[in-house]
Amino acid sequence: MTILAIETSCDETAVAVLEAGESEGATRFRVRGNALLSQIDIHREYGGVYPMLAKREHAKNLVPLLASALEEAELLHEDAQAIDPGLLTEALQLLEREPGLSEAFSAFIRETERPALDAIAVTAGPGLAPALWVGVNFAKALSRVWGIPLVAVNHMEGHLLAALAQPQEDGSLMVGTQGLPVVALLISGGHTELVLMNEWRKYTVLGTTRDDAVGEAFDKVARMLDLPYPGGPEISRLAERDREDARTNPFSLPRPMLHTDDLDFSFSGLKTAVLYIVKARPELSETEKAQLARAFEDAVAEVLIKKTARALADTGARTLVMGGGVAGNTHLQRVFAERLSSEFPSVTLAIPSRELTTDNAVMIGLAGYYAARDRDYADPTTLAADGNLSLG
Ligand code: KG4
Ligand code: ZN
Repeated sequence: MTILAIETSCDETAVAVLEAGESEGATRFRVRGNALLSQIDIHREYGGVYPMLAKREHAKNLVPLLASALEEAELLHEDAQAIDPGLLTEALQLLEREPGLSEAFSAFIRETERPALDAIAVTAGPGLAPALWVGVNFAKALSRVWGIPLVAVNHMEGHLLAALAQPQEDGSLMVGTQGLPVVALLISGGHTELVLMNEWRKYTVLGTTRDDAVGEAFDKVARMLDLPYPGGPEISRLAERDREDARTNPFSLPRPMLHTDDLDFSFSGLKTAVLYIVKARPELSETEKAQLARAFEDAVAEVLIKKTARALADTGARTLVMGGGVAGNTHLQRVFAERLSSEFPSVTLAIPSRELTTDNAVMIGLAGYYAARDRDYADPTTLAADGNLSLG
C-alpha cells in the first residue's frame, strides 16, 4: 500500500510518501519520498510560533513539498490534460478558505498525472487550528480531485508510532505489534500526556498537564534566559554544560504535583518560580543561567519520571515509549534509561530516531497506514481539523 502523508499542525510543513507491507506479524515501511520545511527561522524572530504566520507559510510550501516528495518517490509524471475540469472545480471549492494555496494547487493538478497512491493521510489534530486547516483542506482537495481515499491522523499517535518504528539496515522502518501494553509519555510543545495502549492502537489517556505543556515550559524559560526559540535544545545545551562542570547548584525549584495521587502534571508553577529568580537577579551570569537551566531540567525530569514510573507499575506495561519533540532531550533520555534498568528491567524503552523525534510527515504516514488498512476513511467533504483532538 502506498500512502501520501501531510503534516501541518505547528511550524513544520511536511509531506512524505510511504510504502507499507505486512511481513510476519510486523509492518515494513519504506520511505519513498520525504520533504520537510521548518519555519523555525521565521518564528524565531518573534520568539514563538504565530498561528497565522504558520498558516501562510504552510499554504506557500505545500505544493512545492508535495511535488518534491512525489518526485523522490518517482510518482511525479507530467500530463498536459491530466484532469477533468469539473472535478478540479469541486476540489477548488474545498480550498476556498486557502487563497494562498488554490492557485498553486490548480496549476499543479492541471499538469500532473494522478499518482498511484492508495490513501492520503493528513494530521487532523491536535495542534494550531489555522495551521491544521491548511493541511486538512489541501488533503481533502487532493483526495477529491484524484479520487483517493482520505484518512485523518491524530498527531500524537504519529509521535507514538514513530517511537515504535525500528530503523533497519536497508533504511526501512519495522513496526511490530509485540510489547503490549505500551505506556507512552508524549511530550511536545503543545502536549504532555501519559497514554496507555493496551491493545494495538486502542488508547486511554492516563494523565495530562493541567496547564502548560513541557515543551512550552522549556520555550518560556528559555525566553526568560534570553535564549532563542525553540528553547528546549538551548536549555538542554546549557544544562549539559553545567552538569559537566559538576558544581553544586545554588538554585532549587519546585516539583509541582510530584506527590499527587494521579498521573497529571503541572508546569506553570515551575515556570513562574524561574521567573521570580530571573526578576530578582536581572544580571544573571552565563554560569548562573546554565545552573538555572539545569535546575529546571532536573525538576522537569523528576516529575515526569515519577508519574511515568507510577503508570508503568499500575499498568504492568512491557514497553515505555517517549515521543514528541521534548523526548529528544539528552538528560531525560538518560534518566529514563537509568530508572528503567534499576526499577523496571523488563520494560523496553522505545525512543524515535532523531529525524522522527520532532514533527514530520513520516510518522503521520505510519499512523495513516493502519487507519487505511482498517478502511477507517474520513469523508473528504466533511473532515474538520480539531486543535484539541485527543487520543482515545
Ligand atoms: O513535537 P514537536 O516538534 O512539535 C510539537 O508538536 O509541539 O515539539 C517541539 C517542542 C518545542 O517546545 C521544543 O522546545 C521542544 O519540543 N524540544 C526540546 C528539545 N528539542 C525540542 N525540549 C527539550 N529538550 C530538547 N532537546
Ligand atoms: Zn509534535
